[in-house]
Amino acid sequence: MKIIESPRDMQRQIEALRLAGETIGFVPTMGALHEGHLELVRRARKENSQVVVSIFVNPMQFRPGEDFEKYPRVLERDCELLQCNHCDLVFAPEKNALVDERAVTFVKVEKLGERWEGEIRPGHFRGVATIVAKLFNVVRAHRAYFGEKDFQQLKIIEALARDLNFEIEIVPSPTIRENDGLALSSRNAYLNAEDRAAAPTIFQALTAAQKLVANGESSAQKINDAMQKIIDAQQRLQREYSVVVDAQTLEPLQILTQRKPARAMIAARAGNTRLIDNAALEIPK
Ligand code: PAJ
Repeated sequence: MKIIESPRDMQRQIEALRLAGETIGFVPTMGALHEGHLELVRRARKENSQVVVSIFVNPMQFRPGEDFEKYPRVLERDCELLQCNHCDLVFAPEKNALVDERAVTFVKVEKLGERWEGEIRPGHFRGVATIVAKLFNVVRAHRAYFGEKDFQQLKIIEALARDLNFEIEIVPSPTIRENDGLALSSRNAYLNAEDRAAAPTIFQALTAAQKLVANGESSAQKINDAMQKIIDAQQRLQREYSVVVDAQTLEPLQILTQRKPARAMIAARAGNTRLIDNAALEIPK
């Protein structure tokens, strides 16, 4: 496994691989890898002849006062995990190698990026979309793997790849969870014991929403009320939003129908730690 720091070197490596007829699977990450990331790596391993993982804590997607400085950075450990999972190339640029202070070009994904996370973290998705576009230009992969855990991000990246003609297939992958349902996240490490114990309530609210829909409930309002009640009953969680949306547009839904795939999305804070999660709402035939 090679570790590459310079974008130019990475581009040259990729060019050589493409010329040799290799298919390239790419997993962009911010490091502090866990089983959620590694599942994406394993999937990429199965579907491509070369696997590239990027590790870059992207300053552009953090707002002032967010956790950019304290975000866990454990490159050596990450590389060990990647080696064990048969990754071929790690792209780990220095901050200044990828983000130029003179930069005046940014990618903004309208509509999809404006609500939910976009509203609570203004500028966040501009930072995500811009860095992912840059990464796609450095790592010219055939496929890129993204977790459903960050569902809004996934939809934004799909739109970005389509709208800017990136020749890359965006492959979504299901959320990996702890045994008690908490979605794995690098930020879970910030939780103290009490908040960690409260955190699975988010998954319980999503599961309750899924059960309501499975039992025939089609009113988004009723499902929203049920999720809200469950989250708000957990005093250690401060709910930011809980909502049923159209899984394509991410606009709020009123009525669930067979025609429109629906998604429940929740964000809540436990202390200073933001937790997000989501689930598909399958309407019975
Ligand atoms: P990061 O939070 O490190 O996540 C990297 C990828 O892992 C994302 O596609 C994310 O959705 C996926 N992932 C995280 N937790 C997961 C889980 N429990 N189950 C399945 N997939 C999971 O998302 C980012 O980094 C950044 O915004 C990035 C796209 C790298 C741009 O900087």
